Amino acid sequence: MDKKEYKKITTKVLYDMKCRGEKISMLTAYDYTMARILDAAKIDVLLVGDSASNVMAGHETTLPITLDQMIYHAQSVVRGVDRALVVVDMPFGTYQGNSKRALDSAIRIMKESGGHAVKLEGGREVKESVERILSAGIPVMGHLGLIPQSIYKFGTYTVRAKEEAEAKKLVEDAHLLEELGVFALVLEKIPAELGKKVAESLKIPVIGIGAGPDVDGQVLVTHDMLGMTKDFNPRFLRRYLDLFTDMKDAFERYRQDVKSGDFPNESESY
Ligand code: KIV
Repeated sequence: MDKKEYKKITTKVLYDMKCRGEKISMLTAYDYTMARILDAAKIDVLLVGDSASNVMAGHETTLPITLDQMIYHAQSVVRGVDRALVVVDMPFGTYQGNSKRALDSAIRIMKESGGHAVKLEGGREVKESVERILSAGIPVMGHLGLIPQSIYKFGTYTVRAKEEAEAKKLVEDAHLLEELGVFALVLEKIPAELGKKVAESLKIPVIGIGAGPDVDGQVLVTHDMLGMTKDFNPRFLRRYLDLFTDMKDAFERYRQDVKSGDFPNESESY
């Protein structure tokens, strides 16, 4: 991308976008090639999500992915980006219940990957970790609602905070995170009304995934919105392509061309 063409996205730029009422676009990225394409499309924020555990490694949950693996993915993404802000998920077990460990993990992510910020899941339970990471000057993005790292606590991936008590806790946690100094918040799979209420009552940008239209931006898992994954069909997912079918067709045509001897032809040979 030509440097004159773009303004680098920073946490301050995202804040200004919210103030102007300009929506923020965010998608996941786990590798260099995808990051280059996403950045060329001017996606504002690239999330090196721990969904890499599912999408890239084939695990059933986000729990198994390690800090070293997240750093590897983040390094690849950072190399592909000129404009976007790169946010890196802190994997399960690297920040919960031990703020010293949380700071060490966040510092490793920032130093070794070149990412611009970290994201972690939870509210009051991770208060000390958030404070300690922020004290080192590392920008933190929060994540409330459906928090996949706690799947074994909740036992299901259904909509969160439908009951009043859980909705109240979510609103309190959102305000706590803002007071602590997080620069943005992801809200996953909650009622649209609640998403609106939180976004309107916070100064920081609120990015939704299944949190309705009245938040400050949207995030999806890139492989899902491209239709590369087939078995994941939540209501909030809009598929822009059916790449599973298109790629499978291309692979089949290649196989046939190889088997028949059609590939390579004379002009493809030396
Ligand atoms: O890991 C991830 O992809 C995420 C998004 C779903 C927000 O956290």
